[in-house]
Amino acid sequence: MTSIFHPELFKDKIAFVTGGGSGINRGIVEAFLRHGMKVAISSRSQERLDKAATEMQEQTGSEVLAIAADVRQYDAVEAAINATVEHWGGIDVVVNGAAGNFMVPAAHMSANAFRTVIDIDLNGTFNVSRAAFATLEARQGNIINISAVQAAHPMPFQAHVGAAKAGIENLTRSLASEWGGRGIRVNAIVPGPIAGTEGVDRILGQFNLVEQVEGTIPLRRFGTVEEIGNCALFLASPAAAYITGAILVCDGGQHMVNYGPMLGVMRQVDPKL
Ligand code: NAP
Ligand code: COA
Repeated sequence: MTSIFHPELFKDKIAFVTGGGSGINRGIVEAFLRHGMKVAISSRSQERLDKAATEMQEQTGSEVLAIAADVRQYDAVEAAINATVEHWGGIDVVVNGAAGNFMVPAAHMSANAFRTVIDIDLNGTFNVSRAAFATLEARQGNIINISAVQAAHPMPFQAHVGAAKAGIENLTRSLASEWGGRGIRVNAIVPGPIAGTEGVDRILGQFNLVEQVEGTIPLRRFGTVEEIGNCALFLASPAAAYITGAILVCDGGQHMVNYGPMLGVMRQVDPKL
């Protein structure tokens, strides 16, 4: 696909992307790399990151740094941010994309399962944003958080994810209002179901809901990782210089129809839903 953005839009700019070795976040990383950015990707598995970094460098010719860190561990996150700053001199854009998800009825969810998703999604987003604050202020940078439709539209078996992503959207606005005066913009993207990703496999695949849900989306199809990449290019760029605290929904209109068709299938699992 030919990009409408200038290929050198982010020349000399640096990004740090959690979860950047796979799925939607990798799509964002590739979009950044194709527009002149150098990108550090971070998640738990160094092996997975190294493989993704090599592939993306070969595909785009841009430099990728792979640094393993669990976003739940502040010290590890801080070390990864510091290593990126030492390597390239600073960070201009942070993308908080790391997340965990699985389908489980709240009545059967363990306290640790709930805590785990809050810890990865919400606490992880705070940890990375906090650790990157100084370099973002120095470079007048911006943060993009990855939310989900569940934040505003509750969905069965997703209590943990809905709560975590709602927290992320509030944190987006809280940090945007606190850090605006420091020259840091903070925004979020809400992807709808994105084709070929782990998220779709875990949520819809498990209940054989892929085709049914696709047909109910106003635009009649799932999104692509490239389309979420375009949102990130816009929000990270000077074209969005006056945008902060925004929650950009890119879901083909799914939030307007909510989960009606899924509910029928889920009631076969739990008739009391
Ligand atoms: P994915 O490929 O599984 O992405 C999740 C990433 O997070 C992985 O790269 C994973 O890498 C990393 N990760 C998980 N736990 C981590 C931890 N504790 N510390 C650091 N990194 C961790 O799934 P995806 O579907 O593309 O989702 C990407 C983002 O989009 C998520 O924020 C998700 O909530 C959001 N989203 C997805 C959809 C969709 O349709 N797929 C829709 C709405 C929102 P490791 O396993 O190597 O750590
Ligand atoms: N149903 C119910 N509970 C589940 C579950 C499932 N499918 N998967 C995990 N859990 C529970 C575990 O049983 C455990 O609770 P317990 O100690 O009370 O038994 C708790 O969640 C933590 O699980 P654990 O496997 O120890 O966590 P982890 O930190 O190793 O892995 C996950 C995190 C669970 C989120 C794992 O699915 C993961 O690594 N996900 C990353 C990829 C992803 O989710 N992508 C989609 C993004 S939208």
